[in-house]
Amino acid sequence: MLIDTARLRLRRFQPADIPAFAAYRSDPEVARYQEWDFPLSLESAGRLLRRYARSDPAGPGWFQYAVELKADGCLLGDVAVHRQPGGGEAEIGFSLARDRQGHGYASEAVRAVLRDLVGAGLRTVSAECDVRNQRSARLLKRIGFEFESQRAVFIRGKREWTDLQMFTLSAEKWEVLDKG
Ligand SMILES: CC(C)(COP(=O)(O)OP(=O)(O)OC[C@H]1O[C@@H](n2cnc3c(N)ncnc32)[C@H](O)[C@@H]1OP(=O)(O)O)[C@@H](O)C(=O)NCCC(=O)NCCS
Repeated sequence: MLIDTARLRLRRFQPADIPAFAAYRSDPEVARYQEWDFPLSLESAGRLLRRYARSDPAGPGWFQYAVELKADGCLLGDVAVHRQPGGGEAEIGFSLARDRQGHGYASEAVRAVLRDLVGAGLRTVSAECDVRNQRSARLLKRIGFEFESQRAVFIRGKREWTDLQMFTLSAEKWEVLDKG
């Protein structure tokens, strides 16, 4: 296990996660504001998880934490972190299965990852979110992220224009909030 919280285990993905992972990634509501292709077949899910298994949580590039609920041992979703070389900056993303939203699990997982990243020297973390994705924006603001900028983008997979909002959080602000 990589990170432990009151209700959750954040760990590497494992082969047994394939069905649950494919199911929430294939849910149109979960995928609505994400750039991935869906539905995701079990075969493609397996390929993705094998790729995730090769990545390093402490190194540069993307790492995906599998988020498991301790109470029932089920996979709830994931938190993705993209570290820049040097480890001072990172981007974060998150997804939960639809029936696991609304319990504070995503906030609990993201806070735990932030604590870990800041402990390892991270100075700034950013997150991008579609302007229509209110649940995601609510989560970011709840944690302490601040709105930074907005830009229009064309999402090729969905063949639509939208605005993406960029949010950021500094390590200094996070440390004050985390103590408080
Ligand atoms: C974005 C996403 C992860 C947010 O999930 P979430 O469950 O709403 O987020 P949180 O963990 O912060 O939970 C907060 C909600 O749980 C409720 N809650 C219930 N019990 C709680 C508890 N014990 N502790 C904290 N919150 C609790 C809160 O009141 C809040 O509800 P509200 O937003 O209706 O006010 C989720 O909507 C998702 O996976 N969306 C699809 C993927 C996606 O778009 N990802 C973001 C891309 S930028």
